[in-house]
Amino acid sequence: MKKVILDCDPGHDDAFAIMLAAQHLDLLGVTTIGGNCSLKNVTTNALKTLEVIGRTDIPVYPGNPGPLVAKLVTAPQFHGESGMDGPVLPDPVTKPQKKHGVDFIVETVMSTDHVTLLATGPLTNIADAIIREPKIVDRVDDLYIMGGSVTYGNWTPTAEFNIFVDPEAAYKVFNSGLRVHMCGINLTRQCFLHQEHIDEFRRIGTKAANFAADLTEYFLKTTEENACLPGCNLHDACAAAWVICPDLIQAAPMHITVELKGEFTRGMTVCDYRHLRGSEPAVDLLRTPAMEPRGEEPNAEAALELDFEGFMQLLYGTLKEYK
Ligand code: RIB
Ligand code: CA
Repeated sequence: MKKVILDCDPGHDDAFAIMLAAQHLDLLGVTTIGGNCSLKNVTTNALKTLEVIGRTDIPVYPGNPGPLVAKLVTAPQFHGESGMDGPVLPDPVTKPQKKHGVDFIVETVMSTDHVTLLATGPLTNIADAIIREPKIVDRVDDLYIMGGSVTYGNWTPTAEFNIFVDPEAAYKVFNSGLRVHMCGINLTRQCFLHQEHIDEFRRIGTKAANFAADLTEYFLKTTEENACLPGCNLHDACAAAWVICPDLIQAAPMHITVELKGEFTRGMTVCDYRHLRGSEPAVDLLRTPAMEPRGEEPNAEAALELDFEGFMQLLYGTLKEYK
């Protein structure tokens, strides 16, 4: 089982990532980051989620309250004032750890071989860990993120929320030398959930499945209202599923960096996939004969295609396994 640290900002879809990671990975700890909501609330939501699935053995370490440089932007219109509105849950009995989340990341990576990092919120804690101990770059096996996009944004026409919240952190991470696997909005828009999926969660009927139904019911409503989309995307769960079952996602290597200065493009993940477009104006990046990279050498891989049916089978199976 892969040893993983999950850095997140629960967040409805982060809660799904926690449920998948706790069941299928050796989840060494959860670190939290201000993003969807305040650090206090996202930390409470992480504790609540672990209590729902009976995994209070997994420690939660609060990280940074906000970005390295920018002012924190939150998303109450999607996640509510609590950061996880919808499910009615008691205040958590478990407490967060006293150690700072970034210290936990650094100390764990420096003392444990083959750690994978999975980040489903702004990348502040990951960047801060690299700043505090640059040696982690050579020790971490992989960094999987939900964030960015090979194509369009969601928070702005060009920027995805997690990257938009802390572009300086994202720039540091993509240019650090870490092996980054980017699960962007271009991928997670292939993971649409609707009422039929909520009904299936209810049919499964476990506590975790009913929690999943409550989360999805709320997220579906706010996504349809605010993003005018025909359903809701379990963005962060896609990144977690990628770590668990790599075959669920097809990806391609490319150079990725982050725009910091653009008036209209700040927070954009600038992806160079010119070598994937072949000689034809094809958009099927996975099936067009690749050419030699023309720009800078690839420093990451970007997710392009999701096996949605396979993803849902993994999710349903996981919710059934939680008693
Ligand atoms: O853009 C989607 C991302 O922003 C997800 O991680 C969601 O939880 C929000 O943080
Ligand atoms: Ca998130």
